[in-house]
Amino acid sequence: MATRCRIEIDALRKTFAAPAHQGGGEVVAVDDASFRINDGEFVALLGPSGCGKSTILNMVATLIASNGGTIRVDGEPVVHGRPIRHVGYVFQKDTLFPWRTVADNIGYSLELAGVPTDQRRARVERAIHQAGLDGFGRFYPSSLSGGMRQRVSLMRTLIAEPEILLMDEPFGALDTHTKLDMHSVLLDLWENTRQTVLFVTHDLGEALTLADRIILMSARPGRVKQDFRVNFPRPRNAVTLRETPEYAELFSKVWHSLGEEFVKGRSE
Ligand SMILES: Nc1ncnc2c1ncn2[C@@H]1O[C@H](COP(=O)(O)OP(=O)(O)OP(=O)(O)O)[C@@H](O)[C@H]1O
Ligand SMILES: [Mg+2]
Repeated sequence: MATRCRIEIDALRKTFAAPAHQGGGEVVAVDDASFRINDGEFVALLGPSGCGKSTILNMVATLIASNGGTIRVDGEPVVHGRPIRHVGYVFQKDTLFPWRTVADNIGYSLELAGVPTDQRRARVERAIHQAGLDGFGRFYPSSLSGGMRQRVSLMRTLIAEPEILLMDEPFGALDTHTKLDMHSVLLDLWENTRQTVLFVTHDLGEALTLADRIILMSARPGRVKQDFRVNFPRPRNAVTLRETPEYAELFSKVWHSLGEEFVKGRSE
């Protein structure tokens, strides 16, 4: 069966104007980045801070324009400011509406889409259950833990059933144990739906736990340095996977290459 390419990035470039107090000019955030993601693949975009990961994701999400190269989603070039309906985005920061309850945050996109109340309630209930948040539907975000808020953010995006999911370090602000918990939640959900995922992270353990492939970026300006296949069998257990020799072996291989970029990024 032919594999269908969902996201195709070719010679992508993005520059920003550098602040005047740094002498003006331009910052090259992304330079000549190219990669493809096939249908149903879970791909982690890994690289040191400032290498252009969020910038790439924001260009795929049509939130910012590129300065060169192309991005195609399902064969169609993306156009700045024209979001694609079946693409969902989970942001780095928790962007829940503080004045809405958990249920109303999760159901927000369905409300916008005019889904009738009964159907909406049923879908929200199901999402609350899938996220392990039974009993919290009427809570406001301020009374939830960080991990719970991220579950709500995740479900708010997943409830619209996006075929392509962009995630920008959604668990970056969580402590190690809560993060592991979120990995289990995400793996369980994804096993059933198998969306195409582009997941930005600078956490190698997270990338190895979740992804089928790791695209390793160089220090800024971000280019694709290496593409690693992560062949651990699925379904995966986020905790025990880390005890396997296969995990240790791939970890040290990618770590070495990632470490070189950390050093480069620091010495700039
Ligand atoms: N709006 C902007 N204006 C000017 N420079 C920007 C802007 N957005 C990003 N940059 C610069 O582009 C580079 C890449 O930023 P980006 O946020 O994509 O990095 P990142 O890889 O996501 O980092 P992190 O892991 O810390 O989130 C950085 O040097 C950053 O300062
Ligand atoms: Mg970022």
